[in-house]
Amino acid sequence: MWNINALSHTLGIQYPVIQGPFGGGLSSIQLLKTVSDAGGLGSYGAHILSPDKLHTLVHQVRQTTQHPFAINLWVSDHDEGGLGMQQEDFERYLQLFRPFYEALNITPPTYVSQYTERFEEQVEALIEAAPPVFSFVFGIPHQDILESCRRKGITTIGTATTLDEALALDHAGVDAIVATGFEAGGHRVSFMKEAEDSLHGTMALVPQIVDRVKAPVIAAGGIADPRGVKAAFSLGAQGVQIGTAFLACDESGTDAFHREALFSDAVHHTVLSRAFTGRLARFIPNFFVNNIEESPHLPLPFPMQSFFTGPIKHASSQQSNPGYTSHYAGQGAPLIKHRKALDLFNEIIEQMQSFSR
Ligand SMILES: Cc1cc2nc3c(=O)[nH]c(=O)nc-3n(C[C@H](O)[C@H](O)[C@H](O)COP(=O)(O)O)c2cc1C
Repeated sequence: MWNINALSHTLGIQYPVIQGPFGGGLSSIQLLKTVSDAGGLGSYGAHILSPDKLHTLVHQVRQTTQHPFAINLWVSDHDEGGLGMQQEDFERYLQLFRPFYEALNITPPTYVSQYTERFEEQVEALIEAAPPVFSFVFGIPHQDILESCRRKGITTIGTATTLDEALALDHAGVDAIVATGFEAGGHRVSFMKEAEDSLHGTMALVPQIVDRVKAPVIAAGGIADPRGVKAAFSLGAQGVQIGTAFLACDESGTDAFHREALFSDAVHHTVLSRAFTGRLARFIPNFFVNNIEESPHLPLPFPMQSFFTGPIKHASSQQSNPGYTSHYAGQGAPLIKHRKALDLFNEIIEQMQSFSR
């Protein structure tokens, strides 16, 4: 049977189909529950949560499902120059963003010295709360952290955008590795070279990693229907992680405006840009993205850029203004057809069962 392998065994799930985590507030417990209860692995992207909120989240999810689930964090929480903004820097940067705030008629943010969560504190709370699975991107946690996870029975999933990253994750002893191609929606989570220098397609990346690592490999990027899942297994993956197609489902944490965009012709063209966070990500291009791409002064390093774009993302979504929205979407988006997570999940399982008959 296609679904019974080292990955499904390690994760304790029936079907090795993972609902990818969504950071930036787009995850939902309902989506996670739908997928975990159906026999897959639901995930929650928690990198913007404080340690206290993380603790509460794990508790809430445990109350909601009896099945395994994953909580996801970003190991590297800032890029060079992205922390420690001083008041005078703030005033200067504010001027660069002022035209966007004015166009959307929003009150500009006020100065704060701390504008991001720190990974070290988050992971301490996570280990204490002990979710069944801890998945992570943008790096490899320190050996002490991985060792604590092993002691607590927390299964770890690392994420690679290149073969070298996968080898490093394997060497560190993670339990499974996501191999994510540049087709994927959301951020390019590279941690050894610049994201722009780590752009490998899923089709090429997955088999190279499968050939060289001990850990089971999960394919991600551009998989949005059963054909993609079948292809991933043909390349040697033992599981898939699907993001954009689950993001488009009603249960996800995104809003109706974003979900509709995922079903529109706008997804025929997506771009990689640092416009919203300062880190490279794939989304539907628009006026704001083009402006930042042409700016000689922006984007600022992560997470400073996120601090200034937060109000823009919020207001554009409230005003349904497509010129400024951060509508993340992968290249597989034109393949999406389901609005209910269970319909998407069941179609994949049914087709995979019939392929393997
Ligand atoms: C809006 C959005 C946010 C995402 N945030 C995260 C994240 O915080 N952590 C993570 O590991 N992956 C994140 N991802 C990646 C997905 O979990 C998944 O690996 C990816 O979407 C798979 O490619 P696909 O979009 O082509 O299906 C995000 C993807 C999207 C679309």
